[in-house]
Amino acid sequence: MKHVTHIKDLGPEGVEAVLAQAEAWKQKAPGSLFPGSILGMVFFNPSLRTRTSFEAVMLRGGGSAIILDVGAGVWKLEHREGAVMNADRAEHLKEAAPVLSRFVDMLGVRTFSQGGGDEEDEVDPIINAFRKWATVPVVSMESAREHPCQGLADVLTLREKFGTTKKLPVTLTWAPHIKPLPKAVPNSFLLSAAAAGCEVRVAHPPGFELHPAVRAEAEAYAKATGGSITYTHEQDEALAGSRAVYAKSWGPTAAAAFSPNDVTALLASYSGWMPTLRTMSRAAKDAAFLHCLPVRRNVEVADEVLDHPSSRVVDEAGNRFHVQRSLLHWMRSQSR
Ligand code: CP
Repeated sequence: MKHVTHIKDLGPEGVEAVLAQAEAWKQKAPGSLFPGSILGMVFFNPSLRTRTSFEAVMLRGGGSAIILDVGAGVWKLEHREGAVMNADRAEHLKEAAPVLSRFVDMLGVRTFSQGGGDEEDEVDPIINAFRKWATVPVVSMESAREHPCQGLADVLTLREKFGTTKKLPVTLTWAPHIKPLPKAVPNSFLLSAAAAGCEVRVAHPPGFELHPAVRAEAEAYAKATGGSITYTHEQDEALAGSRAVYAKSWGPTAAAAFSPNDVTALLASYSGWMPTLRTMSRAAKDAAFLHCLPVRRNVEVADEVLDHPSSRVVDEAGNRFHVQRSLLHWMRSQSR
């Protein structure tokens, strides 16, 4: 049984296999890939792209999806072992995950960071509880540490524009926001781009470092694929010669140490990091702009960037369908 909840479940070889198949099937659609199969989709958090793209994969592949919104028509779920369940969580994952596994062929799970800080996100407690107790393959629809399907779609978008991602200079830049966001998306872009051999430059203000374990894992992928990773607190330095600019906001490293007002003030103090056309002019002439969406216009990214022909954000979202179709098929082939 093959779970894919983190890029390490694929490694550079798996990333390559999934992307190559996704590209091929984009050119020539396969027949019915999942006839009679059911994907159970468990959402602890909202979604637009993930929800529709996974369901579309199943419906177009001859299968179906059952969507469960935790706490909205579905019991609130406990994941902590030994918990005294005397509050609002009425069902434990020890029962819920194997029970769901009786009805579906695969389980997708979306569970954002609980806001307990980077160390807790590293443990990724809820998605790992599903891995432990489900008896069917589990696929991440974004968890506390990573959003692997987003990372795969990001890299596919780069490959389509530039032909190859080998040694492709790309910048992952921090962007402002009204509140501290989780690091799953920047972690996944870094890991996926490194696994695809990109020359990744990461730019963020001081105090917004990604977790050392994520950086070490990305470094290992870069070493294996001939890519490279550099970090800077100077956005312009990262942008010079970049063929793609990936903007994403994330919270400070020691987020738990800040009061809500202090963190809002900190984020506001870096409003100059919002990508504009001036920002894009620092990159290569043919640079593409990427963002995972949803995006807060004129807070995180300026209208003039999102509305510019260099923006690939809609294609990038569309690629979620293609990489997920390929990924679910790959998982099934690995589980046999
Ligand atoms: N990028 C992404 O995962 O979008 P949703 O949150 O809408 O699913």
